[in-house]
Amino acid sequence: MALKPPPERLYGRARGHKLRPRQERLLQVTLPRLQLRSEQAADPLAAFPARPAALWLEVGFGGGEHALAQIAAHPASGLIACEVFENGICSLLSRLVPEGGEATAPLPPNLLLWPDDARVLLRAMPEQCLDRLFLLFPDPWPKARHAKRRFVHPALLPVVARALKPGAEWRVASDDPTYQAWVVEVMANQDLFDAPPPATESPPGWPPTRYEAKALQEGRQPHYWSFIRRG
Ligand SMILES: C[S@@+](CC[C@H](N)C(=O)[O-])C[C@H]1O[C@@H](n2cnc3c(N)ncnc32)[C@H](O)[C@@H]1O
Repeated sequence: MALKPPPERLYGRARGHKLRPRQERLLQVTLPRLQLRSEQAADPLAAFPARPAALWLEVGFGGGEHALAQIAAHPASGLIACEVFENGICSLLSRLVPEGGEATAPLPPNLLLWPDDARVLLRAMPEQCLDRLFLLFPDPWPKARHAKRRFVHPALLPVVARALKPGAEWRVASDDPTYQAWVVEVMANQDLFDAPPPATESPPGWPPTRYEAKALQEGRQPHYWSFIRRG
């Protein structure tokens, strides 16, 4: 595939509609209590209140449904959940803390947030530190001229692979036919991961996400891949 590498431009924090006072408070008061700071990226396990047995990362958690379900189901795993969209970050935080508890409500000990571009974190983390990576219903960028913005990309595979332990699982789901075909093509032309064909039913242990629910409701068929980092 003759493709230009994706641009190094960072997404940075993105804002949708104007934030309400409660959302401002969640970002100003609660987010810093859970945030993985840049200087902690070199030793992410040490950033959790208690060192987790395994380290997981989610790219683009959206409303946070999947991230919250995973940390509840797997208390021994530490999850770093990444999202650039402020409304998404507020949505996850609002499920965690009641109104008025922004500064004081107890927070899950096995969750940290990276409110920025996940690619920056992947590059800053130590080699082979991740046991699992989630990329669920990434922005599809269906137009060919935007292909370079897709997260599954030949130029990003070595960055993803570097951060994963041998044998670690990279879960990818997409409901977009263009993106599905793209994933198949990209993964057929690499040797960093074992890439079996996708499931078409949500596999056990894959909590649902908001985008998945929307896709199913609108009659699109999600594909669920489980790629394994080769040793
Ligand atoms: C289509 S939504 C899917 C959200 C969620 N995973 C779901 O299934 O409901 C994709 C999300 O990924 C986020 N995103 C895209 N690129 C990102 C990046 N490089 N780092 C962190 N988040 C990213 C977007 O802001 C958006 O909220």
